[in-house]
Amino acid sequence: MRGAIENEESLDEMLTRPRPVLVEDIRELRSPLVLLGAGGKIGPSLAVLARRAAEAAGHDLEVIAVSRFSNPEKVRWLQERRVETVSVDLLSPASVKDLPEAGDVLYLVGLKFGTESNPSLTWAVNTVAPMHALERYAGHRVVALSTGNVYPMSPARGTGSQEGDSLTPLGEYANAAVARERLFEYASRKDGTKVALIRLNYATDCRYGVPVDLARKVWRGEAIDLANGVFNCIWQGDANEMILRSFPLAHSPARPWNLTSRETYQVREAATQLGKFLGREPVFTGEEASTALLSDARALCSKLGSPPTSWNTILERTACWVRAGGPALGKPTRFEVRDGKY
Ligand SMILES: NC(=O)c1ccc[n+]([C@@H]2O[C@H](COP(=O)([O-])OP(=O)(O)OC[C@H]3O[C@@H](n4cnc5c(N)ncnc54)[C@H](OP(=O)(O)O)[C@@H]3O)[C@@H](O)[C@H]2O)c1
Repeated sequence: MRGAIENEESLDEMLTRPRPVLVEDIRELRSPLVLLGAGGKIGPSLAVLARRAAEAAGHDLEVIAVSRFSNPEKVRWLQERRVETVSVDLLSPASVKDLPEAGDVLYLVGLKFGTESNPSLTWAVNTVAPMHALERYAGHRVVALSTGNVYPMSPARGTGSQEGDSLTPLGEYANAAVARERLFEYASRKDGTKVALIRLNYATDCRYGVPVDLARKVWRGEAIDLANGVFNCIWQGDANEMILRSFPLAHSPARPWNLTSRETYQVREAATQLGKFLGREPVFTGEEASTALLSDARALCSKLGSPPTSWNTILERTACWVRAGGPALGKPTRFEVRDGKY
């Protein structure tokens, strides 16, 4: 099939290969670029993309990845690609003293899954950790990842929530994410820290993401719940590029930007298309509800352009990966959740 990505090495190479527009824009970033919470799903490829773009631009940008690094393999992976690593627990005042000097700061720390069993940890990670970071980097320029979960559901036939809409979501994770945003806004007003809040909806990269969850269900013949029938989704490489290009949007007081596909996608259609690529018929259960978690990404796209990877390419790549038995992170998105319980 045309969309085949051979292995994880090829996938990571693709996710960290800068396009010319990023090579141009990376010159604007101040060294060192410090990524906080860099040990998760997005951080490693984002850090290496910044490094490769800076090298291509001849820009002397040091990139420092900060996390607890619960998975030590990430440290080796990053260091082999010329990204410095520093181990810090942002919940620990003693550990926070080890945070490095920064030019610009990219904030990725968060906790979503496991909230149902331990909500207090979700609240701590999403509120205490940002306060520690904001005290240390007061007055800096910060791009902070947030989530489309800060919005309530909107009409499934509509274009999704906009940045000015009220933040009244269901569930403790989503409300802790609202608190995280409000703390960035508070510090931004108090200290003049310039912040761009990037509300991301569903990034995907063959190892995780909504199309991956759908493709795996189609492949295994498992029923796909249609209740949350519409969603947005963006290729991880495109999201990474747009995140790095959003530093000029940092502003005091903090401002939010939705980051995802411009279009919305139907679960039923996506699974049917994946089924064609996989040679299997999807099994569905339930019916589409009249609301869904959707974001309108037009404002950010008008600044940075639309994400370049087409939906068909994303589906084809994912199907090829799943059919070839490619590895998965084992972290389902749980996109079918409608009560905010993660
Ligand atoms: N991936 C998506 O599709 C998506 C969608 C919407 C929003 N987002 C937002 O984007 C952000 C980054 O996404 P992601 O998928 O990379 O999240 P992630 O996989 O949960 O990564 C965040 C990382 O933060 C680190 N961390 C947690 N507590 C920490 C602490 N006390 N001190 C230092 N580091 C800590 C953890 O790595 P260590 O264990 O190494 O410390 C964790 O893996 C999230 O905060 C989320 O709100 C992501």
